Amino acid sequence: MTVGGGGSAVAGGPAPHIPVLGRPAVDFLNVRDGGVYIDGTFGAGGYTRLILDAADCKVIAIDRDQQAVARGFGLVEAARGRLTLIEDRFSRLDAIARDCGADAADGVVLDVGVSSMQLDTAERGFSFRHDGPLDMRMGGGGASAADVVNAASERDLADIIFLLGEERRSRAVARAIVRARAEAPVATTRALADIVASVVRSRPGDIHPATRTFQALRIFVNDELGELAAALAAGERILRPGARLVVVSFHSLEDRLVKSFLAGRSETRGGSRHAPEVRRPAPTFRVLTRRPVTAGDDEVAHNPRARSAKLRAAERTDAPARDADPAALLPSLPSLADVMKGR
Ligand SMILES: C[S@@+](CC[C@H](N)C(=O)[O-])C[C@H]1O[C@@H](n2cnc3c(N)ncnc32)[C@H](O)[C@@H]1O
Repeated sequence: MTVGGGGSAVAGGPAPHIPVLGRPAVDFLNVRDGGVYIDGTFGAGGYTRLILDAADCKVIAIDRDQQAVARGFGLVEAARGRLTLIEDRFSRLDAIARDCGADAADGVVLDVGVSSMQLDTAERGFSFRHDGPLDMRMGGGGASAADVVNAASERDLADIIFLLGEERRSRAVARAIVRARAEAPVATTRALADIVASVVRSRPGDIHPATRTFQALRIFVNDELGELAAALAAGERILRPGARLVVVSFHSLEDRLVKSFLAGRSETRGGSRHAPEVRRPAPTFRVLTRRPVTAGDDEVAHNPRARSAKLRAAERTDAPARDADPAALLPSLPSLADVMKGR
């Protein structure tokens, strides 16, 4: 689905969700009149509104969630040609920008993860707080979380839950799932949350025992880390010299990926005291945030989701984009297709 096209000031009604770290993200983008900016995670359009309000620029916004794109129609109209909204995955952001007639971009921003609208809609199956079908797909098609939970081998389930949820009791959770599905398929968020809670203890004040397992399945079903790795490389290809890349992430796996990517791409020297200096390709980014920017107490008080958000920003240099595969930065897990074979 594509909405919008070829400008001026934007209103578009109130945003139904408070954008986390929206102001610093847009400040780091350094938005200028005449620029083209890519918002890879449109969501409720919070970042896009801030960018459109910051200068007389254009925004190409992307979201894989059809419902998010459909809700963005009003903003596209209010932006009068300055906003193009596309239903797609942000791993393709460079190709999408070219399809929109932009050979280079002045900024790319990603606010990765799940939106509060997705979490709060029971039928989407993202949350153990609402009972609903165990789905968790951000976009249409592909295997759902229920498909994975009911088909994957015990070992694959344990690896997914350990590597993507950092759940220490992953083996016990996988065993409990396999035991339960032998009786009946695990079909709902409540059923999975109860299975996990039967083997993961939590003390008062701890996060819900199913939090890490739900995170792991969501990341796996949507290939969230693969998407992020590909989007960083796509950003490197489409950003012009001096343009900015800004990424806001919500858990350590994502933040580590962004940090490693930027560390590798901004490195200027190699070797060590004991080895000859290695010749490295010229850095493609200059890091602007030595430490990640986090939300202040005020923002966290208004929006608890902001507590775990981390923002990293970098400026593109004029060195050519690298061929190196950013997927090398990902945890080693079988593909969704392999897992569905129940090896
Ligand atoms: C945290 S929300 C973004 C909120 C947005 N910054 C705002 O201010 O309203 C993340 C959004 O990114 C979308 N998303 C996640 N992964 C994606 C991907 N690989 N490609 C495109 N959209 C993605 C989700 O569907 C969700 O709507």
